[in-house]
Amino acid sequence: MPASETSLFSPVRFGPYQLANRIVMAPLTRSRAGAGDVPRAMTAAYYAQRADAGLIIAEATQISPQGKGYAWTPGIYSDAQVTGWKAVTDAVHAKGGRMVLQLWHVGRISHPDLQPGGQLPVAPSAIAPAGIEAFTETGMKPIPTPRALETDELPGIVADYRKAAANALAAGFDGVEVHAANGYLLDQFLRDGTNTRTDAYGGSIENRVRLAVEATEAVVGVWGGDRVGLRIGPVSTRNDIADSNPEPLFLHLVDRLNALKLGYLHVIEGITGGPREVEGAFDLSVLRKRFNGLYMVNNGYDRTLAMTAIASGAADLVAFGRPFISNPDLVERLRRGAALNAPDMATFYGGGEKGYLDYPRLDEG
Ligand SMILES: Cc1cc2nc3c(=O)[nH]c(=O)nc-3n(C[C@H](O)[C@H](O)[C@H](O)COP(=O)(O)O)c2cc1C
Repeated sequence: MPASETSLFSPVRFGPYQLANRIVMAPLTRSRAGAGDVPRAMTAAYYAQRADAGLIIAEATQISPQGKGYAWTPGIYSDAQVTGWKAVTDAVHAKGGRMVLQLWHVGRISHPDLQPGGQLPVAPSAIAPAGIEAFTETGMKPIPTPRALETDELPGIVADYRKAAANALAAGFDGVEVHAANGYLLDQFLRDGTNTRTDAYGGSIENRVRLAVEATEAVVGVWGGDRVGLRIGPVSTRNDIADSNPEPLFLHLVDRLNALKLGYLHVIEGITGGPREVEGAFDLSVLRKRFNGLYMVNNGYDRTLAMTAIASGAADLVAFGRPFISNPDLVERLRRGAALNAPDMATFYGGGEKGYLDYPRLDEG
């Protein structure tokens, strides 16, 4: 189909699936998991309400106890978590939806209160994030300087990605997204502002992309490339992340992902949840040109911007974050050009059904 005939509401092929439209629910942490970091029944209801999205990307989910950085986030490393997630994917599939899981290791964005045995969070290098506090069960706390990972610990982290990917398959997901954005572990390895290692995982661009590529390879070994996506925020500074020259870094990463025949690349444009334009930032369209799979964009999209991005061929898919929190029927609202409910930030993280299951649909006035 020529780009001009493709709309936000046209179907699109993702791996073996025909997605009903190009509207994606962005990954959204809601901190509502139960004991053992197991998703609760209300989480199945929440995602099922949004199942008419072409694709749902489930909230960031820790691949291991060490990968956790926020209170009440779900995991995908225990049998109970797999069972909890299975109820969620069943509910979404019953409504005809498609859903991938976002695989997460937070690296240094954590706190001993959230770590097994109260240990220090880990990172490529012992550099503390500036100006960020950790969200723990007992409130916001200063983030300590992390412990630098030993080289011989990295195969274990790659194995955690592999196991988490296999668990996601067992839990009935339709694919997985590797979280390499927003200043978490893989992003910390990518950037020279957080990675000052002198081993094979630091220094050159080739070395700094190594962990992200190895983790993705492990996941692709479980799923095949075409049901795997990877999320990046090349010019975002979220969680005190910085790189001296991100353009060649991310172009090299894209080349490596092309070799793995990845299903999609998910690009946060600008600063996550903030401005889309960043002074001095490189032109992200080079990534669209270079990547061979589906190109998904996110950050501050509204109906007009999203329709233009698809119709012009600038993107294949558009992910919406906050609009999906407050509009369970976002797809229908976008179709009709209807007004959107405003999100209530006070209920973003933690709590129960309020601000989770109770946003009204159009037909509920
Ligand atoms: C409450 C909340 C939770 C979020 N959780 C995640 C997450 O788990 N993983 C992730 O990659 N991004 C996360 N983000 C970022 C969103 O996916 C998205 O990039 C951001 O909200 C910008 O898109 P929007 O303008 O459509 O909201 C979160 C954002 C919000 C507001």
